[in-house]
Order: sequence, then C-alpha cells, then structure tokens
Amino acid sequence: MSIKTRKIGIIGAGNVGSHLALQFAVQGLADEVVFYDINHDKATGESLDLLDAVSYQPHHFEAYAGTVDDMKDADILINASGRPRLQGQNRLDMMNSAVDTSKEFLPIIEKSGFDGIIISISNPCDIIAEYLQYKLDWPKQKIIGSGTALDSARLQMQLSTQLKINRRSLTAYLLGEHGDSSMIPWSHVTVAGKPIDELLAEKPDVYHMDSKDEILRKVHEEGTWENSMKGCTEFGVSSATAELVRAIYHDEHKILPCSVYLDGPYGIKDSFASVPVKIGKDGVEDIIELHLTDEENEEFQKSIKVLKEHFARALK
Ligand code: 2OP
Repeated sequence: MSIKTRKIGIIGAGNVGSHLALQFAVQGLADEVVFYDINHDKATGESLDLLDAVSYQPHHFEAYAGTVDDMKDADILINASGRPRLQGQNRLDMMNSAVDTSKEFLPIIEKSGFDGIIISISNPCDIIAEYLQYKLDWPKQKIIGSGTALDSARLQMQLSTQLKINRRSLTAYLLGEHGDSSMIPWSHVTVAGKPIDELLAEKPDVYHMDSKDEILRKVHEEGTWENSMKGCTEFGVSSATAELVRAIYHDEHKILPCSVYLDGPYGIKDSFASVPVKIGKDGVEDIIELHLTDEENEEFQKSIKVLKEHFARALK
C-alpha cells in the first residue's frame, strides 16, 4: 500500500489563495498545493516564493502552478477566485463577477473527475458556495463555505480584548450570512460554558464590554475595504480556512461556524448559511442546532431571507 500525499488545489493565487498555501506549509497541513489562476505567472510566482520557504518549514511541501484539471486527484479543492472588494462595495455587490468567474472553472471541475471536498471562500461566500453545489450537484456534506468562521474570530477578538479573557475560553459564533446581515446569538455566547449575560450581571465591576449593537457593528465593519486599512483581508480568512482543512485531514469532529447546506435545521429550507457544524474527514458530519430566542431567530431568518433573495438572482 503506497502512502497517499495530502494534495490541495487552490483556485485563485491572489491575496487569500497565496496566504492559504503559506498556512498549509507553515502548519504542515498539506504535502502538495497546485494553484490555478487566470494569471499563470502569478500562480507560478506564488509557487516559487512558497518553495523558497520550504527549507525553513517543519515539513516538505510542493507547490506549483497548474490547471483545474491538475486538481482532479486532490483531497480538497478551495475556491479563492476573484478580486478583493472595492471601496464602498459590500460582499453581495461582488456576486455577478464571482458567478461569472465560477462559470469558467465549473465545467473543468465537472469533467476532471475530482470527487473530494470543496471549500469555497470567494464572496459573497454563502451564495457562491451554494452556486457551486447547485451547478455541480455536489454531495451536500462535501461542500463548505468558510462563512462566519472569520466573523466569529472577529467577535472572539472583540470579547477577548474587552473582557480580558482568552479566546479559547469563549464560545462565540455568528450565524447566517458571511456579511452585513449576520447575527450574534448572544444567549449562546459563553465563558467556560457560563452565559456571558450572567457573568456581566454577576460581576459588573470586573467585566465590561461595549453594547451588543456596537460589538456587532465592529464585527460587520472590520471586513470592509475602508476598515481593512490595507485594501484586502487575508490572514484571518486563510487561518479560519486552515482550521477547516485541519478538521478534515485529522478527522477532528470539530464544531466550527461555517456555511453549509441547510434543509430542516433552524426551520431553514434549501439554503446555505453559517451555523455551528461538526466537521470531520468526510466534510459535514452534523449540524448543531442552537435553541434561539424569538428575537435571535427573527434576526437569523432575516439573514436567510437576504441569502435566498440573492441566490435566486445568481441563478438568473
Ligand atoms: C472579510 O470579511 C473580505 O469577506 C472578507 O474579510
């Protein structure tokens, strides 16, 4: 029996795709990365730069520029295609160009015989992940959008900084769209399993934080062009996606907030959105259904409505 190397295909050698590959090298998460980019020189340049790093990484690592067809024997194919948001754009504004880009590589994936797990990052994340699943008729447990894994990290950063509690002692997710309609189910934000509202009420002299509206505003605004302060974001989303890849490769059965196909849980029919999901070697293992308050559920369903309306437009 020959040892199978861990191969990942990345569509898009831009800010996110290149930082993804660096994460895989630094964390030893993959043995081989093949980039496809419409700009072949860019894909080649990123590969060469990564190979320069290999001498100082813990694991050997191959990277090269290829085609989507070269990804046919990959375990995981990651869609990081498209360009960063422009000033004044929200993620949904990027839908038409992201759908057009997807149309270029979808037929190649279909013909290639690739049968692994697809992770989609390209914005609008939930819509594009759903578009890929729909057009490829992909097994629903084998396609995951990075979704609110990044937003949840931003929420954890806000709470950790304000409460002076280590992030790993917090459970805090956003649900719904990876975007402006996402919401925080505060009744499920806990510190060592204790609801945050109880902690704040019991020790108002010890623990302080901004208003819940202010925290949500800050989380929503951090990913905008204006607030990224550098015209793009790349470290957070590539780290969040590496966490998904680790859960898959190590069959971790880890609960992570990410965008998956929902048909029943949370009363949602036939839509992608971010919720807590159990991730293992075969992709989506289980959907964790939080018991939301009426107000939280109303906010969550508003986000689902935004996603459904935009997905319907993506198919036109
Ligand atoms: C972000 O939130 C651009 O969606 C990306 O940083």
